[in-house]
Parts: sequence; structure tokens; C-alpha cells
Amino acid sequence: MSRTRPAAVMILAAGAGTRMRSATPKVLHRIAGRSLLNHALDAAAALDPARTVVVVRHERAAVAEHVREVAPDALLADQDDVPGTGRAVWCGMSALDATTVAAAVAEGKVGDRSVLGLQLEGAVVVTSGDVPLVDGDLLAELVDAHEASGDAVTVMTARVGDPTGYGRILRDADGTVLGIVEHKDASEPQLAIDEVNAGIYVFEAATLREALASLTTDNAQGEMYLTDVLALAREAGGRVGAFVAPDAGAVEGVNDRVQLAAAGTALNRRIVERWMRAGVTVVDPATTWIDAGVELSEDVTLLPGTQLHGATAIATGAVVGPDTTLTDVTVGEGAHVTRVHGSGAVIGDRASIGPFTYLRPGTVIGVKGKAGAFVETKNARLGDGAKVPHLSYVGDAEIGEGTNIGAGTIFVNYDGVHKHRTVVGEHVRIGSDNTLIAPLQVGDGAYSGAGTTIRHDVPPGALAINSSPQQTVEGWVETRRPGTPSAEAAERAQRARADRETLSSGAGDAAPVTEEGES
Ligand code: UD1
Ligand code: CA
Repeated sequence: MSRTRPAAVMILAAGAGTRMRSATPKVLHRIAGRSLLNHALDAAAALDPARTVVVVRHERAAVAEHVREVAPDALLADQDDVPGTGRAVWCGMSALDATTVAAAVAEGKVGDRSVLGLQLEGAVVVTSGDVPLVDGDLLAELVDAHEASGDAVTVMTARVGDPTGYGRILRDADGTVLGIVEHKDASEPQLAIDEVNAGIYVFEAATLREALASLTTDNAQGEMYLTDVLALAREAGGRVGAFVAPDAGAVEGVNDRVQLAAAGTALNRRIVERWMRAGVTVVDPATTWIDAGVELSEDVTLLPGTQLHGATAIATGAVVGPDTTLTDVTVGEGAHVTRVHGSGAVIGDRASIGPFTYLRPGTVIGVKGKAGAFVETKNARLGDGAKVPHLSYVGDAEIGEGTNIGAGTIFVNYDGVHKHRTVVGEHVRIGSDNTLIAPLQVGDGAYSGAGTTIRHDVPPGALAINSSPQQTVEGWVETRRPGTPSAEAAERAQRARADRETLSSGAGDAAPVTEEGES
């Protein structure tokens, strides 16, 4: 981590992001469960700056709301009508200076007159909302390089295989950084330069402020380029240096959806590798997707096709997957979660879920609990050791410790207008194919017969059963469905039964009759 705390980190997020072709602002597109802007804010926070400012304009309302949600302490600065990254930083600096004045007045440190000339001092880190692979460690390395050199400007650069679209770093024969030329303004020989501008800088505030004041829009895009600050700072006598990022992949920007997917894959790879180094077995890193906010313990095993989103947390010894998607799910120690789609659920220690189970929000499975194949749960608590093994829907229910719910049972929680709750006590045995119509209470230790529709409360220890006597109408299929495969099958069975009866009633001296060709 950086030893020096920058005066401010500024994140540029005002651009239109046209290349995304999206109604959603570019910086709000997500990878690893967080917006691109959120990744930039996380990296900024790692520097512990005195102030963080986000420059906004395009889709301001949505971007501002998101910033307030994920980084409530960050300042917002509005970019005006002048386009370009240079103007964005100018607007950001104005906001920082205004805040500096306001803070001084609030602290009562200075009289109102001397306050007017007050400005932010020190190092300002400028980064983009569209470089999500740049993390706090990399920013800290940049700040350290800046402090060590004593330069007025330090730009992060990278040597890349394909520099298309990036600003190129211009150096003289000694390697001194002279400036940056944007791709669209570059000459043929400049286009061949493979050292590019990562779009991340540290500026001494005074140098930056002065250079920004002389930016023009005299270029191919008619924008105020932040990149022109480097040459302007040099002209004003400031020293400009570069910090070459050790991993060029980390500075890749996201401008379109191809780059969004590439950055998502790269970030996921980094997250998956971090967890493997921390003791998690990941059988197939390529098909395992882990959001930035997920927490895993040692000796968790993730099988292929597993996606862990949001605030999912998995305890030691648990085995998750294959083909499982969990969002905001807590998995207990040693639990098995096989082919499950779950969200907002808590799975107890040594519980067994799946295969093909749908856990919806509000599901809580107790220690050694079970939700088996083709079971859907919602807003349901299963006590320790409670089991719903097969083909059931459990909604708005409480199921006590040690209770077993028979196959094919439906908790009828909805009367068409309102939802109602069912409470099933402990050590209850609900038979197969039951319908439990809420609101309902089934007492501890009660039983129900197969096929029961339970409409009324069942006291502890009682048996609930309401199946009517079975009627059997002999010969119904042959008379009512003649000529069907069912009728033919029934006739064959009747004949075979009649033959068997003739044989067993006939004398034992006759040899068994076998038709030719039969065996
Ligand atoms: C920019 C750099 C380029 C660098 C590349 C690295 C400039 C002129 N060019 O190009 O040298 O190689 O980043 O990824 O700086 N933004 C604003 N206001 C604006 C325009 C942009 O806030 O008026 C924000 C965008 O929201 C984005 C960032 O600045 O977060 C970069 O803008 P973008 O248009 O993507 O710049 P690039 O063309 O990638
Ligand atoms: Ca960009």
C-alpha cells in the first residue's frame, strides 16, 4: 500500500460511452457483480484519499444515485457543456477547490476574506470509471512511483500488443516523456508506438490546475484532452514521468461490450486464482464465476459451472456445484449444494441441497437439513434435520426439527389475494402427495396419510387422513376404451391370468403347453 495519502482521487465518469450502444451508462455496466464505476471507487478507497470526487454528466441521475449508494462519502462534480477528459478534470478540480474552501470555513480556521484564494494542495490521482482491472494495489504503486520521483505529473502507461484506440506515449531519445498523442490525432509513425496511456495519472494540484486552464479543443475530436496536460506541464517547467504498469492487461479499458466481456473474464480469473491460493479447490476455473464480494473459506470445493454472486459466503468443507448459481446465499460447513439455483437463502452446516433445487429468498435450512430433487422453497424455515426430499413446494412455512415432508407435497400459501403461513411442528411425518392449505398449524409429532389435503389444524400426535375409499370398476377400460393399446394390454393380462388359473386348477399329469416360437 501507498505510504502517502493523496489529497484527492478523481474518477471520470461523465462520458457518453457511445461505443457500448446501451441505454445504461457505460460506467454502470457490471462485471464480477459490481459496476465498472464501483470497481474504480473500490480501488480509490484503498488509497484512503482525503477526498474522492466523481465527475458526472451523461445519465447524471442514474450515475449519481449509484455513487451515493456504493460510496456515500464521495463528492459529485458536474461536467459542463465542454466535452473531453480535460474538461472533466477541470470541473472536478473546481469542485475540489470549492470543497476545500467550504471545509476551511466550516472549521472556522480562516476568516471569510482569506478563504477566497484557498485551493486544494498536494497529489491528485485521476482515474477513469472504465478501467475496472486497476485495483488499489496498482494505484498505490503509481502513487509511490510519483512520490519517489518528485515529478509534477506521473502517467501510468503500458506496453501492449495492440495499441489501437489508446493514446500513445511520446518519449525523446533519452526516454523522457514528452507528451501523449491520441490515436485519432496520431501520425503513421506515432501509431506504431506500443506504449499507451492507461488513462490514470498523479498530478500535483497546482501544476494540473495551471495546465488545465490552457487546454483547447483544437484536435480531431474537438474535445479538451486531459492528455494535453502533460506537454503543457512540461512547457511550464514541470517534470513529467511515467510509471509502466507491470501487467499490461490490468490497464485495459472498457469501451464496448467485447471489452466488457474480456475485462469480466480477466477479473474473474484474478478472483478465482486468489481463492485457490487461499485454499479453495476450483475444479474448472474457466466455468467458475465468483463476484468480488463473495467470501469463501479454506477447503471449500467448487465444481464446474458454479456461479457465486453478491454477498454469498461459503464455510469450510462445503461442496458446491456442479452447475449451481447462488446469489446472497450463506452455505454452512460441510454442506453439499448440488445443481441448485438459490438466492437470499441460508443453508445450515452439513445440510444437503439438490440436485435441481430452487431456493428462493427467505429460505433457511437447518443443520443437516435437506431439500432434495425438484423442491422449491420460499420464505421457509426448515429446522435442524428437517427434510423435504422430493418434488415439493414449500412457501411461507416453518418446519420443525426432525420433520419429514413426503414426496410431492405442496404448501398452498396463496388464496389468490393473500399469502398465509403454515407451521409444522417437530418430528412430524407428512405423507406423500399432501396439500397443506394455509393458514395452518400441524402439531409436534403428528402424522398425515398419503394424499391428504390438510385444511384444518392438526393437534400434536394426531393422524390426519381424508382420502375417500377407492372405487374399482372392473372391466371399465375394455368397455369404455375398446381397441386402445390400454384395452389390448388389459385383455392380454386377463387372458394370461385365465390361462394361469386353468393350469393350476388342471391335473398335474398334463405337460405344460408351449406354443411354437414361444419360450
Ligand atoms: C482515454 C485517453 C487515452 C487513453 C485511454 C485509456 C483522453 C483524451 N484519452 O481515451 O489517451 O489511452 O483513455 O483507457 O483522455 N469522460 C468524462 N468526460 C468526457 C469524456 C470522458 O468524464 O467528456 C470519462 C469517461 O466517462 C471515461 C473516461 O473519461 O470514464 C475516459 O473516456 P473515454 O472516452 O473512454 O476515453 P478514451 O477514448 O478511452
Ligand atoms: Ca476508455
